[in-house]
Amino acid sequence: MSRAFSPEFRMPTTTARALAEPVEPIAPAVTCADVFDRLLAEPGLLNMPVVDDGRPVGLVSRQDFMLVYVRLYGREIYGRQPVTALMNRTPVVVDANASCDEINARLVDLDGSSPLQGFIVVENGRYIGLGSSVELMRVMAEINMRRAEELERQRRRAEAASESKTQFLAGMSHELRTPLNAIIGFADLMRLELFGKIQPECYVEYVRDIHGSGVHLLHMINELLDMAKIEAGRFDLHEDVLHPAEMCDEVARMLRQSIETARVRLDIRVAKELPRMVADEQQIRRILVNLLSNAIKFTPAGGRITLSVAERADGGLELAVADTGIGIPPDKIEKVLEPFEQVENSFTRTRAGTGLGLPLTKAMVEAHGGWLRIESVLDKGTRVRAFFPAERVLRTSATNVA
Ligand SMILES: Nc1ncnc2c1ncn2[C@@H]1O[C@H](COP(=O)(O)OP(=O)(O)O)[C@@H](O)[C@H]1O
Ligand SMILES: [Mg+2]
Repeated sequence: MSRAFSPEFRMPTTTARALAEPVEPIAPAVTCADVFDRLLAEPGLLNMPVVDDGRPVGLVSRQDFMLVYVRLYGREIYGRQPVTALMNRTPVVVDANASCDEINARLVDLDGSSPLQGFIVVENGRYIGLGSSVELMRVMAEINMRRAEELERQRRRAEAASESKTQFLAGMSHELRTPLNAIIGFADLMRLELFGKIQPECYVEYVRDIHGSGVHLLHMINELLDMAKIEAGRFDLHEDVLHPAEMCDEVARMLRQSIETARVRLDIRVAKELPRMVADEQQIRRILVNLLSNAIKFTPAGGRITLSVAERADGGLELAVADTGIGIPPDKIEKVLEPFEQVENSFTRTRAGTGLGLPLTKAMVEAHGGWLRIESVLDKGTRVRAFFPAERVLRTSATNVA
């Protein structure tokens, strides 16, 4: 059914015409006695349209009619009166081209009379048939089933599209990273003037820019690819046994240069005898790098950053990065966890980034069964905590398990 894939595709609409049954109408002048006889003769007839010269004027419901008619003296009172005395004068009348959704809405909106009375179908105002609610329900159920099938088809299609997007990005990743690594590698080599001095002097500055821009671009590409992987549900854990204290020291060494450049101070507070954890080493390193580089990036010179790891009462581990930086406005704390969200202000505008660091960090923490919390006070500082559950903590006294 390729038709379903075109954007203009619309669900086929069933109209009132298809629901209209050719129930023989009665004229307004027909007596109630005759109506009673017909109702007796046709036990399947639930409703009877009253039509005057082709135009519907009312509807007789078997139940309502019988209740009044068979009442004591009913026959004496109504027997000779025209049926208009006992008919519903305001039945639901719909045009032959009305859709099931419209009819349904009208029947649902009814107050007073029963939707079981059904509805009269007209074309150019003239009676063409009687529609029953039961038939409408059956058709609605079928339409809803087809709608559900169509939604399911679209869901599968979206999934397939997302799958090929991931494939495409994985392919692009290689195509982008290979030349970029050459650019970064050679720029680095030239920057260090390994094979001799670069002339003229200003080229040294350019080469440094090429190197810096290349590193930045590679970082952005990596984040985008990871985000795509998370969205495609392809974020696998490669578990290992890690020493959180060692990881903290390693990451602090990695970031030493930018800490010095930012002129901030980093304190590491890791409890002694901290248990090891079972986690994806690369992801834990990136969680630490992301949180620390945010703290470095958003803390003005002279500020303080604290990295701590501690055991929790529930047996889990808490990893926290606190800073004395610019803080995040209260209404933005939830937002910055969404992809590409960055807080706009004069300070952040000068700091490059993709706005993917926190959402990726959150996804990586959650992939470990943990959760992330941000607390922040504007102009005072920010504390981001990552919690890892007790299942991630290795509790054994032996040191040679890893
Ligand atoms: N420690 C922090 N202090 C102040 N603002 C922060 C901090 N960490 C994150 N933010 C805000 O959250 C935004 C999103 O962070 P992130 O997802 O890491 O993206 P990026 O670092 O690429 O901008 C940042 O742009 C910044 O506005
Ligand atoms: Mg960041």
